[in-house]
Amino acid sequence: MNVLVTGGAGYIGSVTTELLLDEGYETVVFDNLERGHREAVDPRARFIAGDLRNPADIAKAMQAVKPDAVIHFAAYALVGESMEHPELYFGNNVRGGVNLAEAMLKTGVRRIVFSSTCATYGQPERLPITEDMPQRPTNPYGESKLMFEKILVWYQRLKEFQPVFLRYFNACGASSKYGEDHDPETHLIPNVLKVALGQGEQVPVFGEDYDTPDGTCIRDYIHIEDLARAHLLALKNPFCGALNLGTGEGCSVLQAIGAARRITGHPIPVKFLPCRPGDPARLVADARNARKVLGWTPDRSRVDDIVQTAWDWHRAHPDGYGKKS
Ligand code: UFG
Repeated sequence: MNVLVTGGAGYIGSVTTELLLDEGYETVVFDNLERGHREAVDPRARFIAGDLRNPADIAKAMQAVKPDAVIHFAAYALVGESMEHPELYFGNNVRGGVNLAEAMLKTGVRRIVFSSTCATYGQPERLPITEDMPQRPTNPYGESKLMFEKILVWYQRLKEFQPVFLRYFNACGASSKYGEDHDPETHLIPNVLKVALGQGEQVPVFGEDYDTPDGTCIRDYIHIEDLARAHLLALKNPFCGALNLGTGEGCSVLQAIGAARRITGHPIPVKFLPCRPGDPARLVADARNARKVLGWTPDRSRVDDIVQTAWDWHRAHPDGYGKKS
């Protein structure tokens, strides 16, 4: 099977590409390297440089590769940035997606596994979150992902597309080769590990008075190798529709920091700051459908495994990609 991976130089794309190649899939990465890293592309993959916002780039790549399926990661993914620059999110995530779908249509490619997010649900009415709950995003990032889900639903009804929407909760951890390198870094676990590496004095903790047992936000952290495996299972399965990918277990900010203290042996001081606007107190997945439909069970997503794998990667790449110790 021949798979085109858009955004294969990014965090989740790089690890999924690695797994596809390990499992014998012919894999082509399409990426503009604006936020991804050439070093994060497995050398066994064919690489095509291109930007989804340029219809000719993706049309040409699709024609050249004629894949059996597309896994679509390429997108902007910073909630805060999306509130300041919604045009970036609708331009890249929606217009880029439309160009991708058009190129698939012209080439007769129907299967697409789309990297979606729990941010499409917004503030949930109850927990854990099931796939049929209302999708009311609270930021342009979540809205842009939801818009492309809806576009694909219409292509499914009218053009025989076979889309799967994988709605990730909090992606984290690393494989032995590929890890998280964003600029700016806004995510909890890499920010905590930066302090352990001596690259920061204190971890900012946003909010200490949430209605949670220790007052800090609860999230459902899911290891990227578990996420990557779900994409491969989705390729092999005829299912179309949405699946949540999480563990069903919540972990607070202070619990994650506690795990990092145990694993790194560093005291990791914290500084409590006001809540980040728009951060819901708790987000936890009901991922029973992914188990039922795909036979997917996360097995790398204990918080200690997540922090340990991320720590190993950050120690080996203290300055991210490009510079290695
Ligand atoms: N946090 C801190 N300090 C930090 C970074 C984060 O206290 O330095 C807190 C946040 O306030 C939040 C939790 O840690 O309570 C997790 O924050 P992340 O930024 O790591 O992740 P988010 O839950 O905000 O965002 C993730 C994905 C988004 C997705 C979102 C869905 O990164 O792409 O889940 O809600 F949209």
